[in-house]
Amino acid sequence: HAIYLKDYQPPRYQVEHTELRFDLAPDATRVQATLQIARAPGTASDAALVLDGDHLTLEHVAIDGQPLEPGEFEVTDRALTIYTVPERFRLDTEVVLAPASNTALEGLYQSNGMFCTQCEPEGFRRITFYPDRPDVMATFTTTVIGDQAATPILLANGNPVERGELPDGRHFVTWNDPHPKPAYLFALVAGNLEKIEDQFTTQGGREVTLQIWVEQQNLDKTAFAMTALKHSMRWDEERFGREYDLDLFMIVAVDDFNMGAMENKGLNIFNSSAVLANPDTTVDAMFQRIEGIVAHEYFHNWSGNRVTCRDWFQLALKEGFTVFRDQLFSSDMNSAPVKRIEDVALLRTAQFAEDSGPTAHPVRPDHFIEISNFYTLTVYEKGAEVVRMLCNLLGWETFRKGSDLYFERFDGQAVRVEDFVDCMAEVSNLDLTQFMRWYSQAGTPEVSVDSAYDAERRTFTLTLSQHTPATPGQDEKAPLQIPVEMGLLDEQGADMALVIDGQSHGSSTVLNLDESTKQFVFEDVPHAPVPSLLRGFSAPVKLRQTLTREQLSFLMRHDSDGFNRWDAGQQLALKELETLMAAYRHGDEMVLDEFFVETVRSLVETPASDKAVLAEMLTLPTEAFIAEQQTTVDIDAIHQARRFAIARLGDTLFEAFETLYTQEQSDAAYAPDFDQIAQRSLKNVALAYLCASGREEAFAYARRQFEANANMTDVRAALTQLAHAGDTSIGDPAIRAFGERWAHDPLVMDQWFATQVSRPHEDALERVRFLMAHPAFSIKNPNRVRALIGTFVNQNRVNFHRRDGQGYRLLADVVIELNRLNPEIAARMVLPLTRFKRLDETRRALMLEQLERIKAEPLSRNVYEVVDKALTSA
Ligand code: ARG
Ligand code: ZN
Repeated sequence: HAIYLKDYQPPRYQVEHTELRFDLAPDATRVQATLQIARAPGTASDAALVLDGDHLTLEHVAIDGQPLEPGEFEVTDRALTIYTVPERFRLDTEVVLAPASNTALEGLYQSNGMFCTQCEPEGFRRITFYPDRPDVMATFTTTVIGDQAATPILLANGNPVERGELPDGRHFVTWNDPHPKPAYLFALVAGNLEKIEDQFTTQGGREVTLQIWVEQQNLDKTAFAMTALKHSMRWDEERFGREYDLDLFMIVAVDDFNMGAMENKGLNIFNSSAVLANPDTTVDAMFQRIEGIVAHEYFHNWSGNRVTCRDWFQLALKEGFTVFRDQLFSSDMNSAPVKRIEDVALLRTAQFAEDSGPTAHPVRPDHFIEISNFYTLTVYEKGAEVVRMLCNLLGWETFRKGSDLYFERFDGQAVRVEDFVDCMAEVSNLDLTQFMRWYSQAGTPEVSVDSAYDAERRTFTLTLSQHTPATPGQDEKAPLQIPVEMGLLDEQGADMALVIDGQSHGSSTVLNLDESTKQFVFEDVPHAPVPSLLRGFSAPVKLRQTLTREQLSFLMRHDSDGFNRWDAGQQLALKELETLMAAYRHGDEMVLDEFFVETVRSLVETPASDKAVLAEMLTLPTEAFIAEQQTTVDIDAIHQARRFAIARLGDTLFEAFETLYTQEQSDAAYAPDFDQIAQRSLKNVALAYLCASGREEAFAYARRQFEANANMTDVRAALTQLAHAGDTSIGDPAIRAFGERWAHDPLVMDQWFATQVSRPHEDALERVRFLMAHPAFSIKNPNRVRALIGTFVNQNRVNFHRRDGQGYRLLADVVIELNRLNPEIAARMVLPLTRFKRLDETRRALMLEQLERIKAEPLSRNVYEVVDKALTSA
């Protein structure tokens, strides 16, 4: 039951116009659809019309006003087939839905009584019979009818064209969207909502009304997103020449939502966690995430909506490009180096882990069972890295020309990845044939480095080799085109002039590694340099390079590339952690190296030019990142070594951290701006080290910060330190106070759950079980599930991977329940159980046991696909 890219067939019938009429009711919503359909050129005149429909109850079907007789059509759980149809005709259907019992949160459902939709990728077929594929694009007119009291606000895509009252306390609004669109961009919202409104004038002079619709109690959390939206609109005009194309742009916040947000034409629907923010309830990182997501969804209006995907295999066409665009936006708005560090950290942990596990797939997959399973880090984040490489290969100005050409040439069309890359090839005259392999080849390439300095010839030779390990279904890998940006540092730490083949390459250049092995000879090199490779993380690869601690510390202090300065620090810390892990494994005493302590001391004590970067530099590699570097992952050693290092640093450098902590206090009124965020991160990193020392004075700082209640960033940082203390009596009062204070606010309660279950001590799993029984926990709310279960599984590795297998059992219990309620979330939650490949035998067996237990259930397509892949690869 897999679907293959190679089997693509163009649609046999096109929809020219779609008219929908929703008569809303929680248990019986009537949906009438009137489709203006035309046979596509080249289609045989006897070709049946097949419309997708996912478990729909058909009440009526007619062609050109003539109801169909039973023998003229067939309805199954998946489709409506009409055997003979004219060349052009009007199709009327009517179905009945029960949004109140839709727990999958796909199609039309209810969240806190509000009606809303999620159609991407294949949710529209749960609403009405339709050719639910992105290469069928139609204009839409939507009439929404609802109860005036329960649903005073009725929204859909486009512009409102008519409204009125109806008998029995009901009313309606009709919306028209003039831009042809695929069904996945359809949206409807109906509820008791209030809005904030603003205005934006486009470069071309269009007056656009901007609205953010929320439940009344959330009105005070909308201002930030509105500002972010206006910034996004301006930025897309300035950077990409893209203007908005309707008179109205709406955002709605919804509490129950599977993903972050959705770019429905003119009516973006957001998970409330991805849009609502204010200083009392929201931490800095969340403000930044919200700004990025608001931008992302807005940018889709061009990269996704005006130019859309031919089929779902092309998902990265819109997602990779749009993530790249939102990354550029965020780095323009905030700290560019920190944004890059964060994105790379996500890629190198989560995406690399995906690439080396049973669900590995290319940026453009070539087959799937359930497309919802492919909204992955590979499609989004690696997809963005591939676009970034294109941008770097072409240079910004040429890339921008390619982007302009793409939007102009394909406006209003549903296209493929090739169409995008061809535009880039055309404007640059580059041959991107080999580059296309980045889209078809799964797995993370490993680049190894050999170097030799020849004092006599004054040459420095770099030998770069690439190798991509096999992934399921792809044993043979061809060499990729890997751009390696690099420089050579001289004894003073300055960049040397780079000369290759008598040609000058400035102080930083890009080596084109497009074969398995390639040599690069630098001339006129007066002494052995320290190479700085993969600057800015110029390609999504694992760099295998052996540098000494002295070289790493040198790069950390001198590299002209900010990203590589940070990365050298991470590599240095990694070396130190590896030594500690070895000691732990041998049962020896762990001792923190003096050189390392002094390196950290100098960071803490030297006034920082960039506080945000310093905060990143002071953060040791995460457990997930360390695990990615190991052939066999030693869960316990990683955890113990890292925790030991932090505690020792906190204790040894207590006074230095105390000074830093005190220095970085501020009385300024809270703003989620770059300078303040940098300062708070640095201060709270210092607080974490102080508390890691276990000293009572440190907890006194945390307690004071918690009680001062200045803003959620500081409160939450302090709460985390208290709640993660070994002695529960240190954290319990704060946890209780926080829980009582914020019981009314779901987004803060999510943080309350998350903070408790990320506690690194042995009682964490019991805490999870206990909190699952808490009245505020609901397995039907994806945010709650992510906060409680997701945080435990992903941020508390040592306890999830408990040797007694209780962590795996707990996750399997949750997955089994979710499989019945919300398959999309279930298939996401199960993923950590599939990452057994590099674990010890005991844990592997325990994980497989739980996967088998899940496999024995009647499974949704979503969960089946993931679990089957995992068990097959075992
Ligand atoms: N297109 C949306 C975004 O990237 C994500 C929608 C994903 N939907 C889903 N059911 N997986 O912003
Ligand atoms: Zn997207």
